[in-house]
Amino acid sequence: MNTPSQSNDLQPWDDFDSAWYLAHNYKTLRFDDREIIERMATFLASSGPGLSGIDVGSGTNLYPSLAMLPSCRSIAMVERARSNVGWLREEIRGYAPTWDPFWGALINAQADRYKPIEARRLLAERAGVQQGSIFSLPRGRWDIGTMFFVAESITARPDEFERATQSFVRSLRQGAPFAAAFMRHSTGYRVNGLKFPAVSVGEAQVDECLAPVAYDVTVTMIPSGKNPLRDGYDGMILATGYASGS
Ligand SMILES: C[S@@+](CC[C@H](N)C(=O)[O-])C[C@H]1O[C@@H](n2cnc3c(N)ncnc32)[C@H](O)[C@@H]1O
Repeated sequence: MNTPSQSNDLQPWDDFDSAWYLAHNYKTLRFDDREIIERMATFLASSGPGLSGIDVGSGTNLYPSLAMLPSCRSIAMVERARSNVGWLREEIRGYAPTWDPFWGALINAQADRYKPIEARRLLAERAGVQQGSIFSLPRGRWDIGTMFFVAESITARPDEFERATQSFVRSLRQGAPFAAAFMRHSTGYRVNGLKFPAVSVGEAQVDECLAPVAYDVTVTMIPSGKNPLRDGYDGMILATGYASGS
C-alpha cells in the first residue's frame, strides 16, 4: 500500500544535514565504496572525452562526478535538498582533502585516464550544481550519467523507486553509459537523527526496473562485510549499462 507520508515529496529534504552525512559516509574510503569505484572506473574507461554528464541526487558525494571527469566537458549535479545544493556549490570550488583517497582509488583502477588530470581544478571548471528533482529531468539530454543511492533512498514507494530510476536513465541519450548504485534491502536511514525512508530492493528489482529503459545491463552485489555503514541494509548494488532511448 502506498501512503502519502512515504512519498518523496513529503520528506524533509531541506533539513538534510550535509556535514553529518558527509562525516558519516565519506570521512574515510570504505572497502565497499572502493570496490564500486574500481568497477565503475573500468566500465567508464572507454567513454568520452567531451561528453555532457549528469550526477543526480549528488548529496555530499563527489566520487561519481570524479569518476566521470575525464569523460566530460561538463557535469550537471542535480540535487533536491537546499542544504546539499549549498554544500556542493562550495565544495566543488576546491574540494577538501577527504576526497583525495577516492581520487587515488580511481587512479589505481585506471591510471592512464585519471593520473594526468588535475581533478580539483577540473571539477571546479566543469561541474555545475542545479537544484532540481529526479522526477522532472528532461528526456535524452545527457551523454553519460551516475545516480548513487538515490532512487531507493528517497521514498518508501516502489512505484516512485521505479519512476526515479527510469527518469534518470531516460534523461540520457540513446547509447549513453550510466552507473547507478543502490543500498540493498534497505529499511530506511537516519541523518543526524532525522529519519528518511527507503524501498527495499535486491538485484532482481534493479534489473527489472532497468530492463525497459536500458541494455547490456550488469547488476553486481557488493558485500558490506562485518562493518556495515549502519543497520538496516545488507550490501550495495552496482548497476552499469547503456540507455536504450525508450
Ligand atoms: C541517500 S542520499 C545519496 C546522496 C549521494 N548520491 C551519495 O552517494 O551519498 C539521497 C539524495 O537524494 C536527494 N534527493 C531526494 N529527493 C530527490 C529528488 N526528488 N530529486 C533529486 N534528488 C533528490 C537527497 O537530498 C539526497 O542528497
